[in-house]
Amino acid sequence: MSKYKVSLKINNLPVSVDEGTTILEAARQLNFKIPTLCHHDDLCVAGNCRVCVVEQEGSRALPAACATPVSEGMEIRTNSMKVRQARKNIIELLLSEHNADCTKCFKSGYCELQEAANEYRTGDHVYLDVRSQNEVDISSPSIEKDDSKCIRCQRCVRTCTQLQSVSALAVTHKGKDMKISTFLDKPMNDVVCTNCGQCINRCPTASLVERNYIDQVFDAIYDPKKFVVVQTAPATRVAISEEFGLGPNRSTGKLVSALRRLGFDKVLDTDFTADLTIMEEGTELLTRLKEALVDGKDVALPMMTSCSPGWIKFQEHIFPDMLDNLSTCKSPQQMFGPLAKTYYAEKINKNPAEMVVVSIMPCTAKKYEADRPEMRGSGYKDVDFVLTTRELGRMIHQAGIEFDKLDDEKYDSILGESTGAAVIFGATGGVMEAALRTAYEIVTGREVPFANLNIKPVRGMEGIKEAAVKIKDVKPEWSFLEGVELKTAIAHGLTNAKKLMEKVRDGSANYHFIEVMACPSGCIGGGGQPIPTNMEIRKKRAAAIYEEDEKMAVRKSHENPEITAIYESFLHNPGGHRSHDLLHTHYSPKKRY
Ligand code: SF4
Ligand code: SF4
Ligand code: SF4
Ligand code: FES
Repeated sequence: MSKYKVSLKINNLPVSVDEGTTILEAARQLNFKIPTLCHHDDLCVAGNCRVCVVEQEGSRALPAACATPVSEGMEIRTNSMKVRQARKNIIELLLSEHNADCTKCFKSGYCELQEAANEYRTGDHVYLDVRSQNEVDISSPSIEKDDSKCIRCQRCVRTCTQLQSVSALAVTHKGKDMKISTFLDKPMNDVVCTNCGQCINRCPTASLVERNYIDQVFDAIYDPKKFVVVQTAPATRVAISEEFGLGPNRSTGKLVSALRRLGFDKVLDTDFTADLTIMEEGTELLTRLKEALVDGKDVALPMMTSCSPGWIKFQEHIFPDMLDNLSTCKSPQQMFGPLAKTYYAEKINKNPAEMVVVSIMPCTAKKYEADRPEMRGSGYKDVDFVLTTRELGRMIHQAGIEFDKLDDEKYDSILGESTGAAVIFGATGGVMEAALRTAYEIVTGREVPFANLNIKPVRGMEGIKEAAVKIKDVKPEWSFLEGVELKTAIAHGLTNAKKLMEKVRDGSANYHFIEVMACPSGCIGGGGQPIPTNMEIRKKRAAAIYEEDEKMAVRKSHENPEITAIYESFLHNPGGHRSHDLLHTHYSPKKRY
């Protein structure tokens, strides 16, 4: 923050802001909203759509508020006749190139271009119509790309390059042919795209949206021959409330209640398999450490988490030489699927062929993950449909359920019981914290040495975090770990992940265990979460996640009674034969181009 202040007037109101503040930010401090299309709080300035123009006293040109820093004595008008007319012209120009069939559009009611057009009351097209052909790329199970809806704001390109270091999207061609495309114009499913959906979350129109499976899920619910179970990811329970104007909030009970009213036969929880992931992944880590420290084997360390399907695909393309470092554990979503169609089906006496497993996820890459050939451990497609938090919001709206008035309800049993350790999977550092709570206690017989189990060094929004835990006074069977300082690192967002991986690859970093989440701030900032998602909102979602953890009766995965039961009656041992068949997998290198 600058120590120099700049004084100016906006719409005749004085304001004093830090040097370097943009007109857009200064106006927000006075609660004046300026429309934006190319600007996004998470991204660098582009200044290419011009919809944010304002009038500056003494200047003929209209500066773009998002790209112009304030200066001393400036007098700005954000809503003069000149400004209004300029914005209207800009929006009309954008619409002349736009396939504006709002009544058929998935984004209608959620679209920033539509909102701007409605606010400025654009009427009949005044410019020559130069709309591009409406060819929709649905090659990816996660993403739908419709160039006829693109306003070339380049939020997606900046997102993919800046935040994710993937660069699957770029600006191609020139002039009227300019468009957003992929390497050699290939379909989205044939390029390096990780399906993270961060571009979707920032696209102001319907040019990039998730593949939506709402109708297929309603069809399954209404099919009397189908038994439809639903699982909910940790991060969805603090964000679904935003779809109903309630802000980020702890809404687990209302979420369960809404799902029951939608007609799902059983409402179960991915948090259960998050706890299971800790048992499996913790065991895998301890096994690798033993093999390295005692048996002298050449095992791949550091071990890296494998819960984030965007991260897995990134690694397959960009770091294929380090795939052995990935934990072999499937993600909690993909542990849930095969258990639902084996263990659970048997318990409730259902034919797995008639079961439909639906996931509610903060993530668009989970749609791709569910489609992977590796994810058929039950003998069926383990997870049939994946819906984003946003899609669930639409379903609840369509069904006329008044979310804010719902009473809290509880998950069904079994596969519905979980702990605070599972809930925190939703925020960056959460998997690491949950794993440490369990692994430390298994090895020493004592709780982790952090007040109230809150391992603060692994929390927060810093891009790469490091934490070390000294292990001492271990139980006899873990003597090889006596005195070891367990070194961990956490990265969120693929740009941070790439930096961390490069340090591991060149030997300049030395860790035992690394957590990576593809999305900024972890799953709470997932590509399928409500729009807008920005740092302020992600912080509120994280706060709700940690509050939820503190309110849980059980806060360590190994103390979940349903976890004890499933090992006693079905899986027998973490990392055992059945776990290996249902809950673990391997990934293969993919080409970059
Ligand atoms: S992208 Fe927006 S403006 Fe375009 S058709 Fe869809 S809702 Fe309408
Ligand atoms: S696809 Fe969306 S985010 Fe990308 S340039 Fe087009 S409108 Fe903007
Ligand atoms: S989904 Fe992610 S990786 Fe794919 S184009 Fe969008 S931002 Fe890039
Ligand atoms: S929002 Fe300012 S130029 Fe696009």
